[in-house]
Amino acid sequence: MKDRWLGVGAAAFIIVGIVGLLFAGAVSGPGTTRSGAGTSGTAASGAGTVDGFASNGERIYYSGVGSNGPISVAWAYQSGFPGMMGQGMMGRTGCVMCHGADGRGRVIRMMGPVVEVPDIRYATLTSPHQETSGTTPGWTDAQIAVAVRRGVEPNGKALDSLMPKWEMGDSDMRDVLDYLKELSRR
Ligand code: HEC
Repeated sequence: MKDRWLGVGAAAFIIVGIVGLLFAGAVSGPGTTRSGAGTSGTAASGAGTVDGFASNGERIYYSGVGSNGPISVAWAYQSGFPGMMGQGMMGRTGCVMCHGADGRGRVIRMMGPVVEVPDIRYATLTSPHQETSGTTPGWTDAQIAVAVRRGVEPNGKALDSLMPKWEMGDSDMRDVLDYLKELSRR
């Protein structure tokens, strides 16, 4: 009995290690850490700070934590570990891990496959741009929300499974959109 649990523990340990490796490249890339601005405040000090972030939108972007705590995600990345890394991992990170601190996206290599992570600055999404399924005249706020929540483009095409499905409420969604607007101005 004891041995069996030892085995399970070892397996879990190995999986955690693999997951760590899988993301080592993604997480350590340039531009995933937050610049100094706004980091000194805490929720208690100074008006307009949220857990040390300048806004709830920025907090979601950096940490995946919204106004009701960590945002649940459905994540079935096709790497062969479906669902396993969902809540546990995404609850500790946010959009920044893949889309970058500037929101402009980048290329991520995940144990072989190369995934192009798109630019999600508000100005880019809402003006004519190129999608894998062709050019689009630009998305509405509602269409962006559908992509974030359900992982599909306005034309119904599923996004790459690396993009998690974020179960966020309307006010969190508004705050994230505001933050994407802010990124467009930088
Ligand atoms: C684990 C990596 C990862 C994380 C974390 C992530 N995304 Fe994505 N996202 C992607 C990938 C990859 C795509 C592209 C999918 C495709 O083109 O098929 C994408 C696509 C999108 C799109 C559609 C853009 C377009 O032009 O097709 C939006 C909007 C988006 N992400 C918003 C967000 C937001 C907001 C967050 C944080 C709440 C977030 N993403 C977190 C990987 C990620």
